Amino acid sequence: MRLIIKQNKLEASVWAAHHIADKINAFHPCEKKPFVLGLPTGSTPLETYAELIKLNKSGAVSFENVITFNMDEYLGLPENHEQSYHYFMHQNFFNHINIKKENIHILDGMKKDPQKECENYEKAILEAGGIHLFLGGVGEDGHIAFNEPFTSLCSRTHVQPLTQDTIRVNSRFFDFDTSKVPTKALTVGVQTIMDADEVLILAFGKNKATALHHGIEGALSHVWTISAVQTHNNAIIVCDTEATEKLSKDTVNYFSDIEK
Ligand code: GLP
Repeated sequence: MRLIIKQNKLEASVWAAHHIADKINAFHPCEKKPFVLGLPTGSTPLETYAELIKLNKSGAVSFENVITFNMDEYLGLPENHEQSYHYFMHQNFFNHINIKKENIHILDGMKKDPQKECENYEKAILEAGGIHLFLGGVGEDGHIAFNEPFTSLCSRTHVQPLTQDTIRVNSRFFDFDTSKVPTKALTVGVQTIMDADEVLILAFGKNKATALHHGIEGALSHVWTISAVQTHNNAIIVCDTEATEKLSKDTVNYFSDIEK
């Protein structure tokens, strides 16, 4: 695993965006050989998306032959709901880049048979040839995508009940009213993320320090699903200094030295 520590969120996000653009460019995607990118929502990736939009507009990277798969979606929220992840992705990213509509994949939280929707999503990822790079954030309780504590580290796309902690944290987007937050979500599994050729996790701020500590220094455990990145051959965590507050000095020194 690599841990890239930057002074602040903006520096870290710019690093992540340039890393993603470099990977897309190095792949030389074309219609017959598209680059497959996994994407998250949340406040964490906003600056990374803003930088990728800039890079796209300046011609430094093209999304013409990029296929995307989003990590998750709330169960029961229609696409046009302002808090749906469909809405978020279009507002903050897709509407501003040259991606083809048919190349965008997001789980549909309104499907009559959500379980079937999850199975079809796994099939679609396989049909696309697998994910080259999965970008993700991390929840305060260490969840990746919506893989809450005690989700199997072998999980695939599934319907996930949300914990009261996550509902409370995410209620900030629902007028701080926990009763407005959906109680379930559709999410790619931990294994779905780990199957990607590369995993890039962003973690910013003090609120993520405990999750980062368990994810990097703790044991591999379903309690902190972020810890699954320890098993990945090509995983990078990009964070700001605040998020490293609960890491030991030795850990910070090790990663800082090796990245010099
Ligand atoms: C949600 C999403 C996760 C995201 C997490 C952190 O629960 N399902 O994919 O990583 O929140 O959100 P934020 O980036 O707003 O801290």
